[in-house]
Amino acid sequence: MRDFLVRVENKAYPVIVCSSLFSSHEWLKQIQFPSRKGVIITNTTVGPLYAEKVKKLFAEEKFDLSVVVVPDGEEYKELATAAEIYHELLRVECDRTSFLIALGGGVITDITGFVASTYMRGIPYFQFPTSLLAQVDSSIGGKTGVNLSEGKNLVGTFYQPEGVFIGLDFLETLPEREYVEGWSEIAKAAFLRGGDFLALLSPNVHSILARDPVILEELVFRSVHFKKGIVEEDEKEKGIRGILNYGHTLGHALEKTSGYGVLRHGEAISVGMMGAILIAEKMGYVSGDTVEMQKEILEKLGLPVTVPYAVDREQLVQTLLKDKKTVARSIRLVLLKDFGDPIYGVPVEFETVFAILPALIEEGPS
Ligand SMILES: NC(=O)c1ccc[n+]([C@@H]2O[C@H](COP(=O)([O-])OP(=O)(O)OC[C@H]3O[C@@H](n4cnc5c(N)ncnc54)[C@H](O)[C@@H]3O)[C@@H](O)[C@H]2O)c1
Repeated sequence: MRDFLVRVENKAYPVIVCSSLFSSHEWLKQIQFPSRKGVIITNTTVGPLYAEKVKKLFAEEKFDLSVVVVPDGEEYKELATAAEIYHELLRVECDRTSFLIALGGGVITDITGFVASTYMRGIPYFQFPTSLLAQVDSSIGGKTGVNLSEGKNLVGTFYQPEGVFIGLDFLETLPEREYVEGWSEIAKAAFLRGGDFLALLSPNVHSILARDPVILEELVFRSVHFKKGIVEEDEKEKGIRGILNYGHTLGHALEKTSGYGVLRHGEAISVGMMGAILIAEKMGYVSGDTVEMQKEILEKLGLPVTVPYAVDREQLVQTLLKDKKTVARSIRLVLLKDFGDPIYGVPVEFETVFAILPALIEEGPS
């Protein structure tokens, strides 16, 4: 088990990474909970697998937990689901002294954080991320949110959890495609950090894909620890935290243009990172060798480096034009000058984006 504290403006909270949260609950005794009453928020896939186990674990420490189950899927990360959860919380008499537990992937950790930050003007919550993507990314840093029909995460808050508990054995039941897409965020952290973190990826691909617990613990820990450093420096994303969006602007646009669910989030980020490095090459920041190295690592991990079907370019451009970071037909992107040397807020002309699109997506409408 490894742990550390994330120190943000007005609090510090523990992050625990361990092979199994259920094998010993010593860690649970160390955590300060606001009361003995809590509510697990989970979905129809993860709930049946783990909600009773978590409830039992907490019951052994004299906690009384209720469970609220919502449908599984990104399409349910919406205000209507949040409203359903508020009503359920009232029904189980969740009050301002109670706490929430997010038990699920990034959809559940995002919506639980959003509900926790707004229900009765804010109640405490804890993250139990169960997908790799949520373990290394969504559960850390306090970004919460729901989608609107116009785009992803358009409504949300910054609201830090009271603790994040990463049990690597949750990953045993994670489907292969969801497991592999989680590696895009670990690869992203490694590209941004460079050095010995990045050097661990290529030689360990077989162990990574075999879900070897030793390499998993090492790389998940390094990823969340990297994110902790950035979040502590810039909690509200006024500056340096922007580097965590490496590959995200293009990735989100591709995700949206393809129709949510066609390209999974992590897959879209992988293609988005390829777009960003091709742009960096075009603008003279990196060499072809750096582009090749990033491509090789992503491919070895089983991640896509191109969109495997046609995307409507006009729609893609319209989506990029609406991006929060677009100013007068130039988009602000995170680019690498080298691995471990990112720059953020770089203005990139739309023409440059157009120029690299043929290397990323097929011609013609989808
Ligand atoms: N807040 C942030 O900082 C942040 C960062 C990155 C992504 N996100 C958000 O995270 C979401 C994507 O997260 P995700 O990829 O985890 O998607 P997800 O929550 O939809 O989970 C993927 C699938 O795996 C299932 N699942 C999760 N854990 C499982 C387990 N242990 N066993 C079996 N099935 C399991 C889920 O039920 C779901 O069907 C997006 O909404 C994205 O916007 C948020």
